[in-house]
Amino acid sequence: MIALGCDHGGINLKNAIIEYLKEKNIEYKDFGCYTDDSVDYPIYAYKVANTVANKQAELGILCCGTGIGISIAANKVKGIRAAVVSNEFGAEMTRRHNNANILCMGGRVTSEEDAVKFADIFLNTPFSEDEERHTRRVQMLSDIESGIFCEK
Ligand code: RB5
Repeated sequence: MIALGCDHGGINLKNAIIEYLKEKNIEYKDFGCYTDDSVDYPIYAYKVANTVANKQAELGILCCGTGIGISIAANKVKGIRAAVVSNEFGAEMTRRHNNANILCMGGRVTSEEDAVKFADIFLNTPFSEDEERHTRRVQMLSDIESGIFCEK
């Protein structure tokens, strides 16, 4: 299941992604918002991030005006690696190298067509778990989060 959320600045991208997920028969849950009335992005970031962190969703997608505020909020939840993406290379590499679990995009930055392209790449790219340097680095991210990171 893919967890989705947005604020008013990202609702156009989220709706385009919902159409894509329906076409591909990919299960999703939409945590809102549902209109373009002004709302506070941390609310939706928190709902999606918790769902992903609790493993009730495999991955999440969050959209706001820039993708930035909603990614900062999502990254406050333990276990979340939320990445703002604005090109195809970033969509691929943040899965392969960072094992990002939430894709963030901005409705005032990225077109609906590109957002669907980036979501498709993100959802279909695996983490390079057989490459030790990437598992080591992602583990370091968890260690920073847990307060046990030691600079070598
Ligand atoms: C809302 O106007 C806007 O600040 C929000 O969507 C987002 O861009 C914040 O980072």
